Amino acid sequence: MNNKFKNITYVTVFYTVICLIGCSNIASTSIASNDTLVSDTLYSHFKELFHVGAAINEETILGYDSQSEKIVTTEFNSITPENSLKWMFIQPKPNEFNFLVADKYVQLGLDNNMHIVGHALVWHSQLADFMQDIQNSAEMNAHVQNHVNTVVSRYKGKINAWDVVNEAFNEDGSLRESVFYNQMGENYIDQVFRWAAKADPDADLIYNDYNVYKPLKRAGILRLVEKLKSNGTKISGVGVQAHWDLNSPSLKEIEQIILDIASVGVPVSFTELDISVLPSPWEMVGAEVSQNFSIFEGDPKMNPYPNGLPDVIQNQLAKRYEDIFKLFVKHKDKISRVTFWGVMDKHSWLNDWPIKGRTNYPLLFDRNYQPKKAYQTVLDLSTTD
Ligand code: XIL
Repeated sequence: MNNKFKNITYVTVFYTVICLIGCSNIASTSIASNDTLVSDTLYSHFKELFHVGAAINEETILGYDSQSEKIVTTEFNSITPENSLKWMFIQPKPNEFNFLVADKYVQLGLDNNMHIVGHALVWHSQLADFMQDIQNSAEMNAHVQNHVNTVVSRYKGKINAWDVVNEAFNEDGSLRESVFYNQMGENYIDQVFRWAAKADPDADLIYNDYNVYKPLKRAGILRLVEKLKSNGTKISGVGVQAHWDLNSPSLKEIEQIILDIASVGVPVSFTELDISVLPSPWEMVGAEVSQNFSIFEGDPKMNPYPNGLPDVIQNQLAKRYEDIFKLFVKHKDKISRVTFWGVMDKHSWLNDWPIKGRTNYPLLFDRNYQPKKAYQTVLDLSTTD
């Protein structure tokens, strides 16, 4: 971040010197517009407070989406791979690693002096098939240790922060009975963090989850942080996914997340921020029903804005982002990063989840890569309390 900022400063100094030598109106106009253009971006606006990042997809990593890449390198100082470092892609078969895309991802971050995030080492979703079939704890231990060690070591000193374990808790704060839990036992999280710390002692190690606004689930996560700390196991922070909508969670609930995580002595990162503007199937059917919402596919009630977002909702989205970022600014001393889950609306995973084929508008850049009203309200915020 600092190097990047230094470059901006050099550019400004360069133009200033040119201007002093033979200043014309045109030259001074270009100073003003150049300054506005390069300095007023998301990451530079919040640079003294926290990193501002985006999850990037494979097209962007491989250079097939130059417009996304431009936004990523000008607006953000941190990146997370949306899918490319997940187990099913990195190690699809036992001990067969495929680092092609991941290497390019890391190189993109290095080339742009970014805070590079690794997502995610141990997660029950998007796991390789072979891992689902392991029935033996020694074998499971060996595969997890090998995976963590191989992947973290490869990017030692390059990937700055790892989502070490993702989504290990049930909604009631108990541990999810994943293949890891079933084969390695209830101390598996501690073990995985130790392996990660050994492979790269300088990387930040994060526990990451969703629905952290729910008190019981959060209590489970806080117990984990305290347990790891009391065992002497390194844990650097809690990642809060932040897949939220226009009304939920409330600002009070979000503030409580920040306060509670800070109270156990680690910073919070908002790792996957996006705000859905579409009806939630959970509200329509209640919480107990299975999460297969294919019955809603093609239902116009669940996809109310297929041809564009009405102004009234655009304004609600802008206000929601403004309120959330105000809270982030207020608690800047407890927050280390805010990462959006995607760059622009068209490529957001929320067009296909939890119901396939909808048109959602959850990010700060629209379907044509243009900044939305929400982008401006976030940039207009004061960064002092
Ligand atoms: C999502 C990706 O955005 C999708 O492209 C993919 O099909 C499924 O996973 N929590 C996480 C992320 O930790 O890895 C998920 O990403 C979204 C939910």
